[in-house]
Amino acid sequence: MIAEALRYLLTPAGRLPRRSGALSELIAMQARARRCADAWAEHRQNTQAAILAHLPAGRGGRAVVLGSGLLLDIPLKALAAHFDEVVLVDILHMPSVRRICRGYAGLRLVGMDVTGLLEQVLAGGLRPDAEIPPLPGRLRELAATADYVISANLLSQLPLLPLRHLARQPGWNDAELARLGADIVARHIGLLASCRHWLIVADLQRRYFVRGRLEESEDALFGQTLPEIRERWEWPVAPPGELPGGRHVIHVVGLAAGGG
Ligand SMILES: C[S@@+](CC[C@H](N)C(=O)[O-])C[C@H]1O[C@@H](n2cnc3c(N)ncnc32)[C@H](O)[C@@H]1O
Repeated sequence: MIAEALRYLLTPAGRLPRRSGALSELIAMQARARRCADAWAEHRQNTQAAILAHLPAGRGGRAVVLGSGLLLDIPLKALAAHFDEVVLVDILHMPSVRRICRGYAGLRLVGMDVTGLLEQVLAGGLRPDAEIPPLPGRLRELAATADYVISANLLSQLPLLPLRHLARQPGWNDAELARLGADIVARHIGLLASCRHWLIVADLQRRYFVRGRLEESEDALFGQTLPEIRERWEWPVAPPGELPGGRHVIHVVGLAAGGG
């Protein structure tokens, strides 16, 4: 805990990733990935294998990875060998990621909120009855011009930070939050499906267990569905022993892909 607090203070990060909570989440994920390395290994391998299995045929061009995170499930070496340029997009690139990337030519890091909502949410300027702002132009351009666009375990995360902040703001009820969550998910799926060649790996469902018994299942995509799910697997995101009270959590992960 003290180590995580220190890392929070010392990590170079802009106002948006700090205030939105993204920095804290990344630090927590880094620590959990270390503690749960064995339990996460298969999910990481499955994601990497999916990214490679759906590579477009010709070499060269540009790949865009949305939600590159800590590069836990990104086969960076193979992507860098296949494409002239690989663009890694995340709300924040941690120092460990920047260090890894220094070893590669043709890598570009883009720090961006891919929902395009967080600034407005944090400023208290997003109202339930107003149109949500369009996706960032830079994101749409990156997606439209890429030869391969990968959404890497990002989709279910996108509503979490905006909804967490909005739930504390006046005027938002549960139904409005759920509708916004669904819109955020639908827009991201729509963006990917409009790309030349694309892959989404995403949580579909969260399953909460207490002492080995399933207590609750939650739709991770707010009622939205991936266009065509080709594969599914389970990711023990918090395996037994990780949480207090005999709890553990499994995510059901799905994979959808399309394009020429
Ligand atoms: C489960 S992690 C993905 C893991 C990652 N693919 C890896 O290999 O380490 C989800 C990622 O989504 C990013 N993220 C969450 N909300 C975002 C947003 N609005 N814009 C951009 N990135 C976001 C987080 O920073 C985090 O890196």
